[in-house]
Amino acid sequence: MCGIVAYIGSKPAKPLLLEGLKRLEYRGYDSAGLAILDGTLQIAKAVGRVVNLETKLKKLPGFEGSLGLAHTRWATHGGVTELNAHPHRDDKSGIAIVHNGIIENYAALKKLLTERGHTFHSDTDTEVLAVLIGELYEGDLEAAVQAALREVTGAYAICVVCEQEPGVLVCARKGSPLMVGVGSGECVVASDPSAIVAHTSQAFALEDYNVARITREGFRTSTIDNKPVSPKMMQLELDLEQAELGTYEHYMLKEIFEQPTSLRTTMRGRVDLNEGKIVLGGLMDCAKELVKIKRFILIAQGTALHAAMIGEYLLEDLATVPAECEYASEFRYRNPIIEDRTAVIAVSQSGETIDTLSALHEAKDRGALSLGVINVVGSSIARETEAGVYLRVGPEIGVASTKAFTGQVAALTLMSLFLARRRFMSAERTRTLLDALNKIPQAIETALESNDLVRRVTEKYVERDNWLFLGRGYNYPTALEGALKLKEISYIHAEGMPAAEMKHGPIALIDDGMPAVFIANKGPQYEKVINNIEEVRARGGHVIAVATEGDEHIASIAEDVLYVPDVPDCLSPMVTVIPLQLMAYHAAVLRGHDVDKPRNLAKSVTVE
Ligand code: F6R
Repeated sequence: MCGIVAYIGSKPAKPLLLEGLKRLEYRGYDSAGLAILDGTLQIAKAVGRVVNLETKLKKLPGFEGSLGLAHTRWATHGGVTELNAHPHRDDKSGIAIVHNGIIENYAALKKLLTERGHTFHSDTDTEVLAVLIGELYEGDLEAAVQAALREVTGAYAICVVCEQEPGVLVCARKGSPLMVGVGSGECVVASDPSAIVAHTSQAFALEDYNVARITREGFRTSTIDNKPVSPKMMQLELDLEQAELGTYEHYMLKEIFEQPTSLRTTMRGRVDLNEGKIVLGGLMDCAKELVKIKRFILIAQGTALHAAMIGEYLLEDLATVPAECEYASEFRYRNPIIEDRTAVIAVSQSGETIDTLSALHEAKDRGALSLGVINVVGSSIARETEAGVYLRVGPEIGVASTKAFTGQVAALTLMSLFLARRRFMSAERTRTLLDALNKIPQAIETALESNDLVRRVTEKYVERDNWLFLGRGYNYPTALEGALKLKEISYIHAEGMPAAEMKHGPIALIDDGMPAVFIANKGPQYEKVINNIEEVRARGGHVIAVATEGDEHIASIAEDVLYVPDVPDCLSPMVTVIPLQLMAYHAAVLRGHDVDKPRNLAKSVTVE
């Protein structure tokens, strides 16, 4: 989604801002722009990639100052045009602003400002905010920003500069992430730590309704009502090398192949095989309370929701405690009943997904214990949950989530076993499952060896425009994930569903043009899945089966079989998903799509 980088210090801002924007490219965007304040404001914008902006800037004189703002825009209000790209400015006051989020009452504000004689050049909500700050400006940028933000509803992360205060950068946040990296005599502000770590590892995250006024001499933070607040400094631990492409052609492929390593890191130090114990530091403070929880509610969106659905099965199956999983966006707007001893688990790679964050607020307000299963350390959801488990899978750059999915499932498995052992599970059974869990990275390595075969199978069907993904039990969410992966990067229509549901309608779609991917591992529902495969075959559908190594029968009924190692059913999604991730990857490449920058998608969805 939109990205922000701002700089104040003594170095030339332009190269630093462009480099920061490139670090944010993975988040998804459609235009870019920057403003440098060097006596006067200079603004340049370009539609498309950051490199277009860079090329344009090479031909423009100036842009020499050491204070500036930059932005990658993912269109919400108004089309993808230069006029709608950020920064936006208010001509009267000489204010420029970059903004992530949505100002919900912008239409009413725009009407009011138009009546007061202001004119607008773009269709954006951001320009309205620029003009509002300008309208309220009386020689103090920080005060004008605070006053304007008291008038707006919605979500924002903003950075603002003003020609009349050439050494001041003002930033603020509500509901959209913004982090201030503090170096010596300089600050780098960004919506994502990856644009900061090359310059400093000391940073703080702005909290909702907080404003920072930054100069070359230092900074101060306050609320939008001008009450002083003290930010909590943190050490950024992001390893930039982990975010490099290396020898891979795409981040998605790199991250698919990284999964054995990333999962070993998820489990390192957390699995004590000798004692049959699970060590989760992030849950220890509330372990006693957790054991008494009567109901878990898992909330998430997209791929994280599919992992959360597996978490629901795991909690019921292993920890024998009622659990249910729901789209965070739906949970938030109904009237969720939170009874005594209910815990909510927010599952999110970024920790910034606005639907998940808002649902978490709702659950907390209603008295739920709040837990997080999050990848990005120090993200909003991580900060706002009382306890949780980090994924530790490293930065995920590919827009299509892969290693975060297996990391989320592994973390939820650890969490379920942590609880199970404290409830009814014997040490013996726990040890058996932990032993199998420890071997999952190896099983993924084996599954990855089929990469060439997966490509060949995908090639056979890549021209088909409609696919089905079917699974049962633990692998029903895997089927949903397989369909989502294919949709988002290869733009092929795909539907995932429980294999048994097919008979209740979707079977009408089956003809000889329709590939049906079955997850048919040797689990408790294997025989039932085989029946469903026969039903598709009888109607001329093409069956691709993800099956357990050694299953010869399936080769006689499926047209193509992608084998994966035999692992316990409850752990199988981490392995069965591998050929599905590879299939989506190859389909996108074969169709000539930009795998890491799929159209219309953003890495972290910070607007509703
Ligand atoms: C799909 C994908 C999205 C995210 C969803 C939630 O590949 O990446 O569906 O899973 O937007 O994002 P997080 O996990 O950051 O909350």
